[in-house]
Amino acid sequence: MSERETWATRAGFILAAVGSAVGLGNIWQFPFKTAQFGGASFLLVYLIAALGIGIPAMLAEFVIGRKTNLNTIDAFEKLGYRNWRIVGAIGLATGFWILSYYSVVGGWVLRYIGGSITGAYFSDPAAYFGQVSAGPEALALHAVFMALVVGIVALGIEDGIEKATKLMVPSVVVMLVGLAAFAFTLPGASEGYAYFLSPDFGALAANFTEIVPFAVGQAFFSLSLGMGAMITYASYIDGDESLFADSVTIVVLNSFVGILAGLVVLPLLFAQGIDPNTSGAGAVFVSVATAFAELPAGQVLGFVFFVVVLIAALSSAISLLEVVVSWAVDNTSYSRPVIATGLGGVIFALGIPSAWDTAWLTWFDNLAYQLLLPLSVLGILVFAGWVFGRPALGELLKGSDFGDGVGLTWLWTARTVVIVAVVGTLLLGLQTLFVGGAIVPPL
Ligand code: PFF
Repeated sequence: MSERETWATRAGFILAAVGSAVGLGNIWQFPFKTAQFGGASFLLVYLIAALGIGIPAMLAEFVIGRKTNLNTIDAFEKLGYRNWRIVGAIGLATGFWILSYYSVVGGWVLRYIGGSITGAYFSDPAAYFGQVSAGPEALALHAVFMALVVGIVALGIEDGIEKATKLMVPSVVVMLVGLAAFAFTLPGASEGYAYFLSPDFGALAANFTEIVPFAVGQAFFSLSLGMGAMITYASYIDGDESLFADSVTIVVLNSFVGILAGLVVLPLLFAQGIDPNTSGAGAVFVSVATAFAELPAGQVLGFVFFVVVLIAALSSAISLLEVVVSWAVDNTSYSRPVIATGLGGVIFALGIPSAWDTAWLTWFDNLAYQLLLPLSVLGILVFAGWVFGRPALGELLKGSDFGDGVGLTWLWTARTVVIVAVVGTLLLGLQTLFVGGAIVPPL
């Protein structure tokens, strides 16, 4: 897609937004964070955040993007608020930061595609994950994944990926449903369902301050919020369409995929006797690999599964790189391929520590969840709600069948409870980072 093309159809936009949203955040992050932070309690807070904060925040991004048809930084200037470009810049930086380690995990997926073909992970899935998730091999595959992302964005062949996305979402669903059905048959799985689906309110209360920043951050990460991605994608919307309906579709679909992944990974972890609290970043890789080792035709199934995950990861990663490239294309005289390659190189370099040692990956991830994402979403909400305000409402209602009442509800909830919730989340995150010491890098 060149800089100022527009989506041919409304479905094209929704599909691209879903392609951005559905990715490693759903299949990798969501199950492992759920496992780590208390199961159903985490799920509950996540769902409240996705619906209650995610939808209003996504609408805010859509409004800014569609109104201006500009990249995530210049959009603020066009609206007449030059100083607020800082909010766009924070989003851009957040995207940069996240893509650096997202690509490392994309590299793991590439490794698992190879591992499925050779059956390398069959004999000891946990040891295999340990081997391939860090060090020179992880670094090389981080480079390969990033090169794929750069190649797609540089050549402007996102069209191809959009087509692949059409197939990707149903394929992800089919694969996950199949694996969930397999997990269901395993002895011990029922404990996994209990952990995932029946909240323990006592534990939620006891661990509230830890669960909230991660569950809310997970909603932002998974919905591609706070990184300029939705602003950028909405900037390619040409006509009037109901942004409400679009955002609800995207949020529901995205949460559905995450929950499905949870219905695979949590029962598998319990059935395989893996401690959910310590399963960590390897949760999905190890549990699913163990399942493939037991299944008939496991090599073929594993191969297909990881290829589908790769497409999901690519369609998300290109939306992140697209945000930065879109800005640079508008603001410099370099060509798109040069920009994509240059920025891709910088992002690759930023990801080197994460590829070398998963402790760094965790550190980058923590900072994104506890600081960058909530800060960035907060900036967007304050801008759309309080600064842009009434005109935002007009833009929101364009093409929508909903009346002023719904629009005003959005405006006032965004201005009040939603902002308060995000401020609360941010404060909790800052507390963990600065008081709890999580800000100290793993040197
Ligand atoms: N939402 C994507 C996922 O859940 O995998 C990750 C992502 C893509 C985050 C694009 C941010 C973004 F701009």
